Amino acid sequence: MRQHVLILDFGSQFTQLIARRTRELGVYSEIKPCSVKPDSIDLREVKALVLSGGPACVSGEDAPPFDPQWLQLGLPTLGVCYGMQLMAHCLGGKVSPGTSREFGHAPLHISEPSGILNGFQAGEKISVWMSHGDFVSQLPPGFRLLATSSGEISAAMGNPEKRMYAVQFHPEVVHTPRGKEILSNFLFGVARLSRDWTGEDVIQSTIDYVGRTVGPEQNVICALSGGVDSTVAAVLINKAIGQRLHCIFVDNGLLRKNEAQQVFKRLKELGLNVKLVDASAQFLKELSGVSDPEKKRKIIGRVFIDVFDQEAHRIPNVTHLVQGTLYPDVIESVSVRGPSATIKSHHNVGGLPERMKLKLIEPFRELFKDEVRRIGRDLKMPEEILGRQPFPGPGLAVRVLGEITEERLRILREADAIFLEEIRAEGWYEKLWQSFAVILPVKSVGVMGDGRTYDQTIGLRAVHSEDGMTADWAYLPQDLLRRTSNRIINEVKGVSRVVLDISSKPPSTIEWE
Ligand code: XMP
Repeated sequence: MRQHVLILDFGSQFTQLIARRTRELGVYSEIKPCSVKPDSIDLREVKALVLSGGPACVSGEDAPPFDPQWLQLGLPTLGVCYGMQLMAHCLGGKVSPGTSREFGHAPLHISEPSGILNGFQAGEKISVWMSHGDFVSQLPPGFRLLATSSGEISAAMGNPEKRMYAVQFHPEVVHTPRGKEILSNFLFGVARLSRDWTGEDVIQSTIDYVGRTVGPEQNVICALSGGVDSTVAAVLINKAIGQRLHCIFVDNGLLRKNEAQQVFKRLKELGLNVKLVDASAQFLKELSGVSDPEKKRKIIGRVFIDVFDQEAHRIPNVTHLVQGTLYPDVIESVSVRGPSATIKSHHNVGGLPERMKLKLIEPFRELFKDEVRRIGRDLKMPEEILGRQPFPGPGLAVRVLGEITEERLRILREADAIFLEEIRAEGWYEKLWQSFAVILPVKSVGVMGDGRTYDQTIGLRAVHSEDGMTADWAYLPQDLLRRTSNRIINEVKGVSRVVLDISSKPPSTIEWE
């Protein structure tokens, strides 16, 4: 535990951005569900409170649970959107339904540049991002109006004596260009916190934690995929306990072209105690004849656990399992009121710790991928590993749409390798969040030479994203696409057509399955 800002989550899609911005400003923060009670937390570590946005109405039946005691603890507090309405509701103000929703860019008219608006000018107009229906129609006693938005809506209020502030807009999103100044005013001006959080803290506190909890005779295991998250986690734990960290790298037969050997070599070079287990035959046998995406994921998860369990049992006295779980992995499977609808079952090794009765070590549970990359840099890991694009746990299984066969995997691997080669050659690899090929469950007609062909279709997907939770399709140069398509059709036997995916997330997902 360390001193931090506690963010209570009322279900806004932006909550994690508040955490990220505070860390960018050098202050550690943690997110907890809004239902958490003050007496269940070590309050000595909580130095400020943020109430997030959320989709509900404060007085509606669907209002998420919240203990108003939180507002009586004397903590510097910032309410954001729903958080502002909740503060008004709990502290004696009034919230009313708006005549229309205010959504998107809105002008903020600053009337009193104090507290969180310190450094702004009275009368100044700035652009902010709004997303609300209800609004605070009467400020709670002791609060002053600091700014309004269109239609004289109260958009920022503050009670300097109690160090409580609230805004109706979202300072955490990039669409509020001066949002970071506002958060900074809250953290450093109002809550008087110091900038003391760096990636080094995660490194040191993880090493301390592992030193405290893993006994000198105990061993720790890690399922390494060669991806950024699990590799940085392994290097970090290796720093704490050396060769007592046993890494297992399972080749599930669903990796990209030449990937298993290349990744294994790189992991060895990092000084990790790692074993490569080739279980591809077992995975492909179990997947044979299966087309349903969720069934594929379940099978892969189950076989993985079997293989991993078997390998781990060869190691004596294993007590802990390291996982490179990131915040988006956690948030996609948890919501304010319990598990959200499963869009895809992401958790590749879900069930493993329970089955093996292991305790989990997840040093990056609160972090985003770019933060993990920064930690990797602090650990002096090579860019070649840190810059790798994400690759899903179920691998090519979710990129072979329809049935998975050796032949379709071969075609996909070849096509994907060509696409990546062209992407790298043009310097696009690092600019993209992900770029990959999929093979569709559609055959189409082509002409080659004098003959008619009826062959497979390859789809190309390249996206920009900050954290994988939203994504935009990338506008790749036409030449690059033309060369890729020509090469795939000419060089990969069995392909008669190449198509380009131009969908963003949402509503589409990044992977096709
Ligand atoms: P989607 O397809 O849901 O993916 O937009 C978001 C990010 O997660 C990766 N992904 C997965 N990662 N196991 C994983 O470890 C999975 O089952 C899985 N499915 C998707 C995807 O590549 C993207 O970066």
